[in-house]
Amino acid sequence: MINKIKNICCIGAGFVGGPTMSVIADKCPTINVNVVDINSERIELWNCDDLTKLPIYEPGLDEVIKRCRGKNLFFSTAIEENISSADMIFISVNTPTKKTGFGAGQASDLKWVEACARQVAKYAKGHSIVVEKSTLPVRTAEVIKNILEASKTNSEIEENHSTFDVLSNPEFLAEGSAVKDLEFPDRILIGGESIEAMNSLSEIYKNWIPESKILFTNIWSSELAKLTANAFLAQRISSINSIAALCEATGADVREVARAIGSDKRIGSRFLDSSPGFGGSCFKKDILNLVYLSKFFGLNEVANFWEGVVHLNKWHQHRISRIISKKLFGTLSGKRIAVLGFAFKANTNDTRESAAIQICNDLMDEGANLLIHDPKVNPKQIEIDLGKKPCHNLLKSQALSPLEIIGSWNFLNNYKDTFIGADAAVILTEWDVYSKIEWKNLSHKMRKPSWIFDTRSIINKQELIDAGLNLWKIGDGSSI
Ligand code: NAD
Ligand code: UGA
Repeated sequence: MINKIKNICCIGAGFVGGPTMSVIADKCPTINVNVVDINSERIELWNCDDLTKLPIYEPGLDEVIKRCRGKNLFFSTAIEENISSADMIFISVNTPTKKTGFGAGQASDLKWVEACARQVAKYAKGHSIVVEKSTLPVRTAEVIKNILEASKTNSEIEENHSTFDVLSNPEFLAEGSAVKDLEFPDRILIGGESIEAMNSLSEIYKNWIPESKILFTNIWSSELAKLTANAFLAQRISSINSIAALCEATGADVREVARAIGSDKRIGSRFLDSSPGFGGSCFKKDILNLVYLSKFFGLNEVANFWEGVVHLNKWHQHRISRIISKKLFGTLSGKRIAVLGFAFKANTNDTRESAAIQICNDLMDEGANLLIHDPKVNPKQIEIDLGKKPCHNLLKSQALSPLEIIGSWNFLNNYKDTFIGADAAVILTEWDVYSKIEWKNLSHKMRKPSWIFDTRSIINKQELIDAGLNLWKIGDGSSI
């Protein structure tokens, strides 16, 4: 028998909870979807009339929200009542790496997940299907089940006759293409023990996804598959970035190497773009989680293998900073550098683990003054990420001798202004607007000799040469 789901409650209105539930509401008009969060500021933004103020930027999300919000999609802080009325509860809260205690720096901090399980245990009524949407270490479902089971005997909760099924349903969306990924996913993974519960969840997805794309596995395979998918993807980026360094040393070109290997169907052409290193909230944390799990089970060689992917990524970011310094005569002190892009990839305002954070900090440590631009990132977020207040004097800069201010940054709304008096511009995010820059109109604003560092391969080399600028491009060994 399949229980038809009428009311969904999603705990966590973040980068995953917000878009995922919006698309479910859009595709399933008969289901009421309530997205709840403890962060009232975030909820206010999800409810904002001005759709340009949604708390996360995702192409197409505003249209989806416009269609459903207030009809069958609701954002609120009413956690208790929405858990009570739900027949399916998604847990979509943050699972960052632990900062202190056992496993610090590697294991996932499950305190938010545990808090959710306790809330569900306390407020759920009747039978509820609890779905892990957050990315979790293998066997977390067991923890959730234990908490839910224990609630039946918990003296705080009187007359609690509720029953639960726990499913794992990891999310594979990528930021910047979340709506498209949710509407046309490669697969939907559902791990569980109760085939009835798995079918109930599958029925929801079948409203817009072909059944052949819905995979059923046991719950542990589902949890591990999510970590493994991210580890494999991140590993490809470290692999190609390691080859980029070799290309620069040998005269090869990483784009040509990527094309050559990518035409082999066994390797495939996607996820082979050399870059300033992978960022985003998940790749590093999920690999470190895998490393922790491997060590926990005594599989040290497995742990070392995966840890190497994270080491290479970090090394690669420092490598880029060192190259910039070397090209600018080995000293950055007081020099102005335009930083184009701060988000960890294009089409998102997310900066978590962005390569820009490490590279900007490296450059400021060397004394550089950075003029940063990003089309979507809020300068307040940059201040948090860099741990340093902006230096507004940099705007009035031309009057100041360059050596008066060192190791500072400021944000500029117009990217064209970042070039004023700059010795170099570093492209860190592949925003479309940067690939359309008319270099000949900007080069005169820079101090000579001027360098452009293209870590995303979006610049036309000839246009830059014609504009009298020097180009360093990731993985391009042609100038050795
Ligand atoms: P996020 O930090 O953007 O959102 C999490 C939200 O949960 C926050 O708004 C927080 O206030 C809320 N929250 C925490 N505890 C709560 C509680 N007890 N009650 C109510 N609300 C609570 O995180 P995210 O990026 O959406 O990621 C969520 C999970 O999804 C993580 O496990 C992540 O690994 C996974 N994931 C993320 C992505 C991505 O692209 N960001 C993709 C796939 C999977
Ligand atoms: C990634 C995965 O792609 C999603 O499947 C997964 O659901 C998600 O993590 C998650 O679990 O959070 P996301 O981090 O949003 O998605 O973005 P990606 O497109 O994977 O990019 C991650 C990083 O790798 C970015 O910094 C990007 O610039 C970089 N990247 C990507 C490269 O350097 N080269 C590439 O060829 C592709």
